[in-house]
Amino acid sequence: MDSYFEQQAARWDTPARIRRARRIAQEIRLRAGVARCRVAMELGSGTGLVGFALADCAQTLILSDPSAAMCAVLRAKAAAYRGPAAVRVCQAPPGRLPDPPAPCGLIFHSMALHHVRDLGAALRQSCQMLAPGGCLCFVDMEPVSRAFHADHPDFAGYDGFDQAALRAALEKAGFSGVRSAAFLRDQKVIDGRAHPFTLFWMCGTKP
Ligand SMILES: C[S@@+](CC[C@H](N)C(=O)[O-])C[C@H]1O[C@@H](n2cnc3c(N)ncnc32)[C@H](O)[C@@H]1O
Repeated sequence: MDSYFEQQAARWDTPARIRRARRIAQEIRLRAGVARCRVAMELGSGTGLVGFALADCAQTLILSDPSAAMCAVLRAKAAAYRGPAAVRVCQAPPGRLPDPPAPCGLIFHSMALHHVRDLGAALRQSCQMLAPGGCLCFVDMEPVSRAFHADHPDFAGYDGFDQAALRAALEKAGFSGVRSAAFLRDQKVIDGRAHPFTLFWMCGTKP
């Protein structure tokens, strides 16, 4: 496993990331427009900054991440969680979601898809795990330069996404009603140098 996230997990929750995650969770809630569903799942949950903010969307919420250290943080937060959902944590292989106990009403993720190598397989798996009418909704970033991941030596993912190409990939994976839009500009500072980036949300429905 990529050691970057193993090293980052314990210090991931900075005030800036917490603020941004709140905004991302708001956007996913708005765009997915799901009433409370039986099962929701998140890919690449990290420390759950977005996942716990959306926990009230499901009776059972499954948070997954390939990093053991991220999952350790998730388990500690799940043990302290007193909200309305049953929260389960699962360490899943990269690019894969765990098997849900029932078809999902919502699958979501934030800044995780650009780490997934086989995009088509991940999108097809999400489509298979959704109930008919269920929604995939995620946030990721528009194209950035390679320098954006200069602080992450093992990075082997995508330098952001072209929205139109990614919408086409969702349609190819079986989603309908695919839509997306940019909603937030932010910046990442590496060695004193600011790298601006733009986040977009994208949603598709399982027919
Ligand atoms: C940029 S962090 C985002 C964390 C969290 N979703 C958030 O918004 O705060 C990316 C997360 O994706 C996970 N990840 C890395 N490669 C992955 C892969 N191939 N499939 C799924 N998750 C992955 C990492 O362990 C990390 O927790």
